[in-house]
Amino acid sequence: MNEKAIAARRGAKLHTPNRLGEKAARDIAGALNALLADFFALYLKTKNFHWHVSGPHFRDYHLLLDEQADQLYATTDPIAERVRKLGGTTLRSIGHIARLQRTADNDAEYVTPLDMLAELREDNARLVDRMRETHGVCDEHGDVATASLLEVWIDEAERRTWFLFEATRAGETPGL
Ligand SMILES: [Fe+2]
Repeated sequence: MNEKAIAARRGAKLHTPNRLGEKAARDIAGALNALLADFFALYLKTKNFHWHVSGPHFRDYHLLLDEQADQLYATTDPIAERVRKLGGTTLRSIGHIARLQRTADNDAEYVTPLDMLAELREDNARLVDRMRETHGVCDEHGDVATASLLEVWIDEAERRTWFLFEATRAGETPGL
């Protein structure tokens, strides 16, 4: 057996049957893997800010960010498993996440609490946009199951955005 045939056989072991068709599976799995990378990147950024937040609202912000990080992390497994159900392969390493993520890291030594919240609010809002785009790809191919999961995750991301928006507003100087 030549190398190509061996590689094809190895790949076939990971191929899960589904009735949506090859193209649908490829398009949706591709979009989901990029989303998964964003979820991991945003999870770690939210934890980073949870660990490094400081100031008078420490307890509130620290707890809010922990709750949001938990929700982001809880979404990662269903996204990856959805990709496998479609017959695709999913992320394998931190390096793989780094290659696909569109959510930017923030390795700054110090970030003010309000800048942290504003940045996460923007990241979550962008995540909503990308999930809506992915929902469109699912609609094109009639993948109602992925679409329905995305609807729940969009609602959760909009809730995170709402909380971050309100918490940021509380920090505005009155009269400005
Ligand atoms: Fe913690």
